[in-house]
Amino acid sequence: MRVFIDCDPGIDDALALAYLAADSSVEIVGVGTVYGNAAVETTTDNAVRLLRLFGRPDVPVSAGAARPLVQQPRLAAHVHGANGLGGIEVPAAERIDVSESAAEALVRLARSAPGQISVLALGPLTNLALALALEPQLPQLVDRVVVMGGAVRVPGNVTPWAEANVNNDPEAAEAVLGAGFDLTLVALDVTMRALATESWLEELAGMEGERARYAHRFLTYYVDWYTSFLGQRACAMHDPLAAAVLLDPALVTESVTLPVQVELTGTHTRGMTVADLRTRPESRSRAPVVLPTAVDVPEFLARMLRALA
Ligand code: BDR
Ligand code: CA
Repeated sequence: MRVFIDCDPGIDDALALAYLAADSSVEIVGVGTVYGNAAVETTTDNAVRLLRLFGRPDVPVSAGAARPLVQQPRLAAHVHGANGLGGIEVPAAERIDVSESAAEALVRLARSAPGQISVLALGPLTNLALALALEPQLPQLVDRVVVMGGAVRVPGNVTPWAEANVNNDPEAAEAVLGAGFDLTLVALDVTMRALATESWLEELAGMEGERARYAHRFLTYYVDWYTSFLGQRACAMHDPLAAAVLLDPALVTESVTLPVQVELTGTHTRGMTVADLRTRPESRSRAPVVLPTAVDVPEFLARMLRALA
């Protein structure tokens, strides 16, 4: 599988990169970066370092958007640390010189191999929206798109109704969800149930090797923050679950297919992902997306450990 990864590493983004990098059947054709968990300069530097750490130093990294389409950026240093990786220093790596932006890179790659490249979007959707503006045929040029974002039938994580990636750029998310991609939305509906628990973390702690050691350090920081959010010592594996669903849709054990729009004007609900749950197809307003509602969590966590081994 050929994959373009758009991300804001970010602790869980780092784990998603590790997951894909460990699979020899995956060709990572490019990585785009975006503001989100940290400023784009930081997420870009992190992506370069992480690709080297996870054995893919040759993947080109293109820096993307530094801010959302309309609103001001809101970074998440309180969750991911000031360096985006829980303050953990990953060895520096040399950046392959890429003069194009993430949106330009995605458009170029999609045009060069129509129908062959899948997209995994793990941060605010600004780069994908910019790519759509450059190439309105993008939905026909790429294969599948898997987005980590949204909270459809569950509460949000940054506001009562909004999930961070969508809330960071609601206009971009709305453009992407309405564009007609073959799109799977891996939302908080499933990611908040894909928890790295204490016993799973202990297993990780017992593993040898650099990847496992770094993953354990990142996740220990993340769990410290998540514990206050979840009320138990665990953390949600948002982005790695999206990566796993991209590689193997069979991990999804239940899903619904329905149109999803993003609320852009609500006083209390801006950034909310509003699904059209009506059953009459004729009342639906736009092309549907696939929303997983249940996944095989034990199998996913077992695969995550194998990827870090
Ligand atoms: C999403 O927000 C970011 O903080 C995480 O990396 C993940 O992509 C979860 O809401
Ligand atoms: Ca992310």
